[in-house]
Amino acid sequence: MDIVAIQAELNALEADCLRELEAATDAAQLDAVERKYLGKQGSIKAMLSRLGQLPKEQRAELGKLLNQSSARAEAAAAAARDRVKKGALAAALEDKGFDVTLPGRLPAGVLRPGSLHPLTRVRRELEDLFTSMGYAVLDGPEVELEHYNFDDLNTPPDHPARESQDTFWTTTPGICLRSHTSPVQVRGMRWWRKQGFELPMRAIAPGRVFRNETVDASHEHTFHQLEGIVVGEGISIAHLLHSMKTLLRGVFGRELTVRLRPGFFPFVEPGFELDAQCLHCGGKGCAFCKHSGWVELLPCGLVHPHVIAAGGFDPGKHTGFAFGLGLSRLVCLRHGIDDVRHLLSGDVRVLGSFV
Ligand code: PHE
Repeated sequence: MDIVAIQAELNALEADCLRELEAATDAAQLDAVERKYLGKQGSIKAMLSRLGQLPKEQRAELGKLLNQSSARAEAAAAAARDRVKKGALAAALEDKGFDVTLPGRLPAGVLRPGSLHPLTRVRRELEDLFTSMGYAVLDGPEVELEHYNFDDLNTPPDHPARESQDTFWTTTPGICLRSHTSPVQVRGMRWWRKQGFELPMRAIAPGRVFRNETVDASHEHTFHQLEGIVVGEGISIAHLLHSMKTLLRGVFGRELTVRLRPGFFPFVEPGFELDAQCLHCGGKGCAFCKHSGWVELLPCGLVHPHVIAAGGFDPGKHTGFAFGLGLSRLVCLRHGIDDVRHLLSGDVRVLGSFV
């Protein structure tokens, strides 16, 4: 075996090795090529054993050629590895199913993180707002005595709201599902007095209410209100207006122009509907405000003297204001929800949509 023949063999091996490295498309193929040519048993390395067959003076020369050859092949292998790695990454990025904006998949058995219902969030925001103004947050029963729901609220015995088409009655006479949060007005006043708290009494009462409604996109049999009541000496419409403007600033994050229109509720005198200049067109008139420039926001008024008396205060000395905010309506207004039925649908997608 002469050196020229060995050299030719070596060149051929190196060329094969480089070609195969070039052709490799994944790490496994690369491993195989490296093993075949460059591993301890690889064919390039194997040529070292052939050195012994050569005359001494040629051994050094071939040794050098062998080293150069394996160095080139190793460099080519490193480059090929790099290429394969980048290729795999690019392929992963180009995969049409890969969207970096998607939330990660939770491993099986891990619970989905929860989120608050939009109604809960609005209620909590309002509780924070009112407690910051010194209001107490009260609670009342959902199954209520007719007495608190109607009589104490100055509602005449023949008032249509008492009819079963409007109110859900239980099989026990005199007990209904509360049709509004207003029964907490009288319950609250009595409790306030019993506690001996100072006046003015300031309280809100958020909660669920029930009406025997035909359910459609804007009516539910179950919905949420937030009652507010302030009673003390010299409480006037000016206090009412100021509080309502503060409330609306907190809810909508800006100053709204409001107006009071007369409205009738047996437990307030005078009673009002508070309107705000349309949130969408600013009063110019649009489809949302039915081109009137105003949207109805909440009913309110000065607490009727009969109700003040039912609460245990002195109607000759004490006056107050009350309001009934429709929380369900507010949530729909704020999030542009066009159907109140979504709110209590129990569909978790509703929960996750308004975070
Ligand atoms: N309770 C009334 C309703 O649900 C709203 C209201 C509350 C009106 C307080 C005036 C004062 O319709």
